Amino acid sequence: MVKLTKNRPICTPPGPIPFPVIGNLHLLSKGEPHIGLFQLYLQYGKIYQFWFGTVNTIVLNEPDVIKEAFVQQSAIFTDHYIHPTMHIVGDSNNLGFTNGHEWINKRAIITKALQKSGFFHPENLFTREFMEMKKVLDQAIQTSNNNILNIRPFIKKLTFNIITKFLFSNATSYDNEGDEIMFNLMDAFETIASQLGNGNNTGDLIPILKPFNSPNELQRATHLVLTFVKPFVNEHLLSLDPENPRDFLDNLLLELQDESKSMMMSLDSIERIFIELLVGGVDTISTTIEFLVIHLSNNPEVQEKLHKELIQTPEIPYHIDNKAAYPYLNAVIKEGWRYRPTVPLGLPHRNNKSTMINSYYIPQNCQIIANYYAANLSPQLWNEPNKFDPMRFINNPSLDLSVFGYGPRKFIGVLMIPETFSIRIDQRNK
Ligand code: HEM
Repeated sequence: MVKLTKNRPICTPPGPIPFPVIGNLHLLSKGEPHIGLFQLYLQYGKIYQFWFGTVNTIVLNEPDVIKEAFVQQSAIFTDHYIHPTMHIVGDSNNLGFTNGHEWINKRAIITKALQKSGFFHPENLFTREFMEMKKVLDQAIQTSNNNILNIRPFIKKLTFNIITKFLFSNATSYDNEGDEIMFNLMDAFETIASQLGNGNNTGDLIPILKPFNSPNELQRATHLVLTFVKPFVNEHLLSLDPENPRDFLDNLLLELQDESKSMMMSLDSIERIFIELLVGGVDTISTTIEFLVIHLSNNPEVQEKLHKELIQTPEIPYHIDNKAAYPYLNAVIKEGWRYRPTVPLGLPHRNNKSTMINSYYIPQNCQIIANYYAANLSPQLWNEPNKFDPMRFINNPSLDLSVFGYGPRKFIGVLMIPETFSIRIDQRNK
């Protein structure tokens, strides 16, 4: 599309020629849309247009254009693009799939409750949980007789326990008890995350295929998580002690005792928000740890160097306030996120007005995708991007790691996350 003004033509961003109905969807492989979108970045550059079926989409691939939209033009780009399937999970009532004033109010209440529950200083909870898990893992290593041991279930259980304990004091033991419930829930989290991933629900993108959408799997997964959450909400409502809040849920309920705020969040809304905190929290953290274990195994020289740093500084236990004593550890964690971004395409945004980005015309109501995968693996921005090399962050501490989003909608816990993982690895090596 080209618009002519007095002086010069204004163009929409370049991109592949779309087919009728399917647009450019044939260029993506199911389950890994970020790989196809990365190839298109190499071809079309840092901003291009892509038709997800009939949904006109602008893909932003480098931090400068992502920030131009989400930070400098945040009044236009803060809304999320809500696809019909998202209502099955959010019921127009959660945080991630609401916009405008409703979103602003909910986000403020949730952030306050997170702060009061120690979300940004999670050392004690993480260390305690890690030590519990380590006992069981050590035992399993001993009895495995040097056979290969799958540590995935241990990591999943650890993250599940950390998040659910933090949210509503759930306690699942690390032995086999309760395994089935937990693993069914983890499957449900994965179903929800993958079904809402970009390009996975064709009925959302191609209206004539809507009747063929099969929302049953997503409905079942959502129902399972709701069934898990409800008893905790009911029990907390009955036993709430304003003088002794036990967890995030108690702090949230206390925030809502303020009459002006209680109007902003119904009981259903609280339950829906817990679905996204569970799905958003458990999967991202366990994937991060799994990848770190893989990177350290594949790069023995990195593991060796990290081990040296940890044993050289035993008198300074890792803590948020003394993280500077562990520069290489911090660099390893950052490089893990750069090398395999946990949420490669973020959540889709929408522009509520037509505007310009990087001198291109962006029509109103496009789906806007921030491609964090491209931003972190771009050969234009990174030296040897396909090499796992934590030293790049030591040699250049100001490197921009863009995995948590930018602007008002960026990941709510961005302040606490890097420290959290450091504690875990530090304990692993003692
Ligand atoms: C490695 C860890 C994580 C990464 C890389 C990550 C990344 C992201 C990204 C890129 C977004 C979208 C930002 C945008 O829309 O522009 C997001 C949103 C969100 N994340 Fe995460 N996240 C992580 C962990 C978590 C955890 C632990 C939780 C909850 C306990 C969580 C809950 C959320 C929620 C609720 C939103 C929606 C916020 C909103 O709409 O205002 N995430 N995250």
